[in-house]
Amino acid sequence: MNQDVMMDICNVHKSFGATQALSGVNFTLRKGEIHAVAGENGAGKSTLMKIIDGIHQPDSGTIHVKGKPVVIKGPLQAQDLGIGFVHQEIVLCPDVSVAENINMALINRSQKWFVDFGALKATAKKCLEPIAPHIDPGQRLDSLSISEQQLVEIAKALSLKCNILILDEPTAALTETESEALFAIMQSLKQQGISIIYISHRMAEIFEQCDRVTVLRDGQWVSTDAVSETSPDEVVRRMVGREISHLYPEKFFGDPGNLEVLLEVRQLTDENRFQEINFKLHKGEILGVAGLMGAGRSEMVKAICGLHPKTMGKFLLKGEEVRISDYQDSIACGVAYLSEDRKETGVFLDLSIAGNVSVLKLGQVSNRWGVISKTSEQTQASRLTEQLRLKSAGMDKPVSSLSGGNQQKVAIAKILSINPSIIIMDEPTRGIDVGAKVEIHQLIRRLANEGVGVIVISSELPEVVGLCDRVMVMHQGQQQGTLSGADITEENIIQLASGLTTTTGLEIA
Ligand SMILES: Nc1ncnc2c1ncn2[C@@H]1O[C@H](COP(=O)(O)OP(=O)(O)OP(=O)(O)O)[C@@H](O)[C@H]1O
Ligand SMILES: [Mg+2]
Repeated sequence: MNQDVMMDICNVHKSFGATQALSGVNFTLRKGEIHAVAGENGAGKSTLMKIIDGIHQPDSGTIHVKGKPVVIKGPLQAQDLGIGFVHQEIVLCPDVSVAENINMALINRSQKWFVDFGALKATAKKCLEPIAPHIDPGQRLDSLSISEQQLVEIAKALSLKCNILILDEPTAALTETESEALFAIMQSLKQQGISIIYISHRMAEIFEQCDRVTVLRDGQWVSTDAVSETSPDEVVRRMVGREISHLYPEKFFGDPGNLEVLLEVRQLTDENRFQEINFKLHKGEILGVAGLMGAGRSEMVKAICGLHPKTMGKFLLKGEEVRISDYQDSIACGVAYLSEDRKETGVFLDLSIAGNVSVLKLGQVSNRWGVISKTSEQTQASRLTEQLRLKSAGMDKPVSSLSGGNQQKVAIAKILSINPSIIIMDEPTRGIDVGAKVEIHQLIRRLANEGVGVIVISSELPEVVGLCDRVMVMHQGQQQGTLSGADITEENIIQLASGLTTTTGLEIA
């Protein structure tokens, strides 16, 4: 076998019940290459990685590492083979410190009776240094933001000194600066001869960072090419088997001032995270909220739906003041919220798809004695998930059996189930493949056209620019300005978000 080959996967099959997740996949990883794996939601990318990490056993097929046939029985054995895995979904312990999380594998293996916490912290600090020097190893994991948790997950994998590193959508939860830091690390690992498998839905990252790209479709191997010999459009075409238009749906144009005001937010303040936020959301408009990580965007919108404390502020729905002190109040007012953190407030992994979709308003699917009808639950779930092209083996299957992107679609179907008049979405297309993304953008626009008011937070600037009718930009908890019409450009948003300029003539307040 070629000296350059680090790992060779041949004709791997894997099914989960009736779902054929992988059928006859071949994959070769060379020494010191960054090899992208691309494919639609549910194509089998994570399943293939879990087979490499020993989490799943293939039904058939062979794996060779450095020329030797191996059977990888579990993650510990994968570690022994030098394989490190950064999971798509964060799999850390929320209630212990960052240091303990990073050292988990070492603690597991150590034969000692006592743990030397000082040493743990020191190792953790060293692992965090290149990727997130600002994180204190002594902090509890659940005190960190999603992006920080993702950085800890990466630091943990780096601590293992692996020679094959798997990164399953690592940048989905990272800011641009954090992603840049990760890319620098990837390039330096590559220089050291370490091989990296890189999964992402972002073509730009694949084409800028990777050497080769393998495309999977419906569990089958489609192609492997040097990125220099193919193009983003070609890769997308192979992923979805059809042409994709990258066009955003047509915007609402006209003066929002003439439209009915659905929601007015006055003087919304939480001393630490955001101060004196004032804005109006109109019927049928998509309002973007942009800003750098830590600008207070997520906390601010959470405060609107009773999920984050406020020290001051009023909400008016169609001109009438309402009290929203918890999420129940918010739902009763028709204000639905899609969390950026699927695990926290998005979906219940152990519950069925149908159960998740109906959970916000059980009254809709139960009879007058309060008994839930499985049939109406499933009918509702099928109707709502169909328009999102959810890929599943049935509405009765647990959400944990879905691919990451399909879990996100369930989270979206869940908020649609209450027929909201206002929808607040934090990173709606996180982990969603290029084709489904276009469909979700169209869905959001369709909802707006039907009279729903939509607030969208997104770290992807092209999405903000392409989708939103107005964009409010926050900087360090302050409302820095609002852009509309042709003023909505990436440059203007960046200027405002970094606090360099302000817009005058805010039509809000
Ligand atoms: N534990 C499981 N039980 C049942 N089905 C599963 C399980 N894990 C994955 N599947 C199914 O296998 C298929 C491939 O899923 P996988 O998670 O590998 O997709 P993916 O390519 O990583 O997608 P995404 O981009 O959404 O993360 C999907 O149809 C999924 O529902
Ligand atoms: Mg996946």
